[in-house]
Amino acid sequence: MSNRQTVLIPDFGAHSLLTARRVRALGVYCEVCPPEAAEERAGEAAGIILGDPSRLPAERFGIPALSFPPEAACAGNAEAVLRGFLRETCGCAGDWRMDEAHIERMTEDIRAQAGGHPVVLGLSGGVDSSVLAALLSRAVGRRLTCIFVDHGLMRLREGDEIEAAFAGRELQFKRVDAAERFLARLAGVTDPERKRKIIGEEFIRVFEEETRKLGFRAMLSQGTIYPDIIESGRDGANMIKSHHNVGGLPEDMDFLGLIEPLRELFKDEVRALGAALALPDRLVRRQPFPGPGLAVRVLGEVTAEKLDILRPADHIFREEIEKAGLDRGLQQFFAVLTGLRTVGVQDGARTYGYTLALRAVHTTDFMTAAFARVPYDVLDTVSRRITDEVPQIGRVVYDVTSKPPGTIEWE
Ligand code: XMP
Repeated sequence: MSNRQTVLIPDFGAHSLLTARRVRALGVYCEVCPPEAAEERAGEAAGIILGDPSRLPAERFGIPALSFPPEAACAGNAEAVLRGFLRETCGCAGDWRMDEAHIERMTEDIRAQAGGHPVVLGLSGGVDSSVLAALLSRAVGRRLTCIFVDHGLMRLREGDEIEAAFAGRELQFKRVDAAERFLARLAGVTDPERKRKIIGEEFIRVFEEETRKLGFRAMLSQGTIYPDIIESGRDGANMIKSHHNVGGLPEDMDFLGLIEPLRELFKDEVRALGAALALPDRLVRRQPFPGPGLAVRVLGEVTAEKLDILRPADHIFREEIEKAGLDRGLQQFFAVLTGLRTVGVQDGARTYGYTLALRAVHTTDFMTAAFARVPYDVLDTVSRRITDEVPQIGRVVYDVTSKPPGTIEWE
């Protein structure tokens, strides 16, 4: 690929990343760069897109420049303006894909960042960290160690499934059973932000301890993606929630540095990268599962008892969605154990069980989402099975809130 097919986007925060994503979706490779580096790099690029034209005057770059502030990006003709600039003004072919050449570029960047040091990856078994494992393994080979911290907040049988998927492969994989220490630190904590921060910090502490046991100092790598950063309030955005891998990171980390190669990508782009790396479809299409796991799906204080109630209920819901063939059309579906207890009746006797909420959404980028119209018959089966098979649950409700104003998770 000639560099002259590259478009530069000086980084003015969230808006620049959203523009970058639109440019990539139009098949043009682009790089978000520090504003101060833009002039120096202009010689290699086909054009430049300025999200805040008042801060960099367009003429000085000597290449085609597009002024594309947030107002222009929201206009009805934004797509056409962007396409016209890329194709006609800059002469870009529009045939860029997440392909071998791009993967090679990413692996070279990783090698440069790792600088010959060992790399420890926090692997959760989710799409982001699994795709990253494949990428890192290409970049640094045997210098990579994947550490899967089983924090005891996984879904039913999930820890064993992740171990089965990764152990015994080319990768050096280590599972750490840390359920007790996570639960101990979460005892008595009800505030969602505190929970996320505790989990984020505890993850790092376990990675540090395990790395020390390996006998070397290493770079830490995480599968952070762009929505994690933006929702955690970085990049000038308002904080919505501290994603465990961003807002939950302690300041004093005993690592040589942090490598986050996916931090500019959106979920669908990570999936495209996974497909380009020839990862199995089953893995690439896996629904996201938040790093803090069931801790953000057990509202209020997390206890072993509540986790044991939520796990089988969540499993029934997912099983019935799959049986009904709805799973391929839904991006995320799960159960939430609310702290709310309600009065009910079973075999003529009063019950006072927990309320379980079911959530299923459609989304492309997880930044916005619509609640899914799951057929009533399916919900009926799910509700009957859950109240029959999980006696502590007395009531089942379905969440009909989209994002915004709700988020996908409940905490
Ligand atoms: P929300 O709830 O913010 O979620 O609408 C957007 C997407 O992110 C996932 N999520 C997380 N993922 N660490 C993660 O790795 C987190 O702390 C976290 N919080 C939410 C959520 O499941 C959804 O896919």
